[in-house]
Amino acid sequence: MKLAKEKTRSLGFGVIAGLVGAALSGIFAISGATSPGATIPVFIGLAIVVGTAHYWKTLHIQAMRDEFNQVKNRLSLLGNSIAETQGLVQLSGLNQPYPMPFGGNWALTPDAAVILAREIAIRRPNTIVELGSGVSTVMVGRLLQQMKCGHLISLDHDPDWAKETRRHILANGLQDYVEVLDAPLTRQQFDGKNFDWYQVPEQLRHIEQIDMLTVDGPPQTTDATALARYPALPAFADQLSEHAVIYIDDAKRDTEKEMVKKWLQQYPGWKSRMIDTIPGTCFLEK
Ligand SMILES: C[S@@+](CC[C@H](N)C(=O)[O-])C[C@H]1O[C@@H](n2cnc3c(N)ncnc32)[C@H](O)[C@@H]1O
Repeated sequence: MKLAKEKTRSLGFGVIAGLVGAALSGIFAISGATSPGATIPVFIGLAIVVGTAHYWKTLHIQAMRDEFNQVKNRLSLLGNSIAETQGLVQLSGLNQPYPMPFGGNWALTPDAAVILAREIAIRRPNTIVELGSGVSTVMVGRLLQQMKCGHLISLDHDPDWAKETRRHILANGLQDYVEVLDAPLTRQQFDGKNFDWYQVPEQLRHIEQIDMLTVDGPPQTTDATALARYPALPAFADQLSEHAVIYIDDAKRDTEKEMVKKWLQQYPGWKSRMIDTIPGTCFLEK
């Protein structure tokens, strides 16, 4: 709230109330009901009382709004914590040999990871391509290992991070199910626009039937409005199998909403399905 503006408004209301009071007092004085000397005290009194009351009411309402917003934010955080805890409990069935840091600013949140795991368990995709490696790579690898089917190829633009993910793949004994490939970001054109996007490794270019594409990279650039992940569908459209599904993380962000909108316009035949997870999860399928 702009306090100076509210003070001026309250002063204005006070002066108006004072003037109305003074005018009424003047009329009563002419009719002989009150003394003419009452006009100025009535003006001052009403101006002070009404101005102060208006200012107090404004401050009080603002304080109530602030408290309401604080409670709303706390409830939202509590809701997220419950969703994360429920997710972690459900993921415990994967029996990972050591805890993985789900959530935070980078990794899939546990509730979104559960949705991904469930979709993979139901669909049993043969080939999964992941854009953006990390905790999700290990989780999916572990699930494929338990199901004894499928293969995950994960791309990462950051060689150090790719190395770190590979270290976890080895530590979990998932190397038969997961490959993490380096894919530096290079300037490329998709649907007539320039993007800094993954240089798709040669071995991935030859795969004809991708059954699942998970879109969780590259990270949003310094330009918060750029559709950094838009190229995912144009780049792989011709390699996706007939019943392929695209999993999109961070689907509540404006950039991802815009990306999905543009995909649906540009690639007719795809349908989107939104799931209410902490970051927002969206599936696209035909
Ligand atoms: C949104 S993250 C991908 C997260 C991944 N799918 C997961 O669930 O862990 C996108 C990119 O950010 C980078 N990244 C991931 N975790 C990171 C971390 N903890 N610190 C710095 N960079 C990270 C990696 O290069 C990754 O490809």
